[in-house]
Amino acid sequence: MTGSIAALPAAAPQASAGPATLDIRNLSLTYKTSTREVLAIRNLSLSVQAGEFVSIVGPSGCGKSSLLKIVYGLVAASTGSVTMSGTPVTGPRRDIGMVFQAPVLLPWRTILENVLLPADVLKLDRDAMRTRAHDLLEMVGLKGFEHVYPDELSGGMQQRAGIVRALIHDPKLLLMDEPFAALDALTREQMALELQRIWMSSGKTVLFVTHSISEAVLLSDRIVLMSARPGTLLAEYETPRERPRSFDDLSSPRMAELSKAIRRGLNEASTRHDAR
Ligand SMILES: Nc1ncnc2c1ncn2[C@@H]1O[C@H](COP(=O)(O)OP(=O)(O)OP(=O)(O)O)[C@@H](O)[C@H]1O
Ligand SMILES: [Mg+2]
Repeated sequence: MTGSIAALPAAAPQASAGPATLDIRNLSLTYKTSTREVLAIRNLSLSVQAGEFVSIVGPSGCGKSSLLKIVYGLVAASTGSVTMSGTPVTGPRRDIGMVFQAPVLLPWRTILENVLLPADVLKLDRDAMRTRAHDLLEMVGLKGFEHVYPDELSGGMQQRAGIVRALIHDPKLLLMDEPFAALDALTREQMALELQRIWMSSGKTVLFVTHSISEAVLLSDRIVLMSARPGTLLAEYETPRERPRSFDDLSSPRMAELSKAIRRGLNEASTRHDAR
């Protein structure tokens, strides 16, 4: 990664005004398949302030991806509501960027065309967006891969392209579902630091799902712990205010204590699930 967001041209003005607030109220989700019903989320409430970075941790299968898909407007909640900056989210919105757990790139579009997709849909200035796309692709180490197709990239490279696509239109709310999971350890740390820089300079509201406690502590203002399925909020952890943070900072007594508390909470949440 060679660039930084500070050097990027701003996206179209209508897409970049102020970070969003998010209010999730009494949310429940039941998946109904032909053979069974799965209560994935039960009575979950969470408020996120404008510009806040909130991480969600929780046992596998507790409903984290489902929650993000509801906030993105892709999946309809069974009960409860999601409100973004005072407006109910009832379907896909233009001012949200989402990085999916598995990169969903269109195989017939090149990497550049894939990352420009939201800009095309929003009909943003193509020349400005191209410049931004090239800068972002360089930032995530994909310079030189603009004109190749997704199946020519590794899983980690596709995931990085997915991150660029989520950022291209400078969304007010960024939803990230384990965005660094397919990356090698070193790239993963670099990407986390780059995300910190992006967040600090652009003031986005971020909802970030991760299984990495160190990533959550490095990046977040607040970390929320979900219970095993059906997922609901069990606990919240606030981090110290100092920014920027480095991975070395995580070994300070305060941060180490915080990480320990989260790990304990996660273990308890997972064990409770096993006991049922
Ligand atoms: N489309 C679907 N149809 C039916 N059940 C589903 C569907 N998607 C998810 N589920 C179920 O809902 C529950 C929550 O799934 P979800 O993917 O939200 O979990 P998660 O917390 O993101 O897990 P992980 O950490 O493994 O990614 C799981 O029990 C899963 O089997
Ligand atoms: Mg998931």
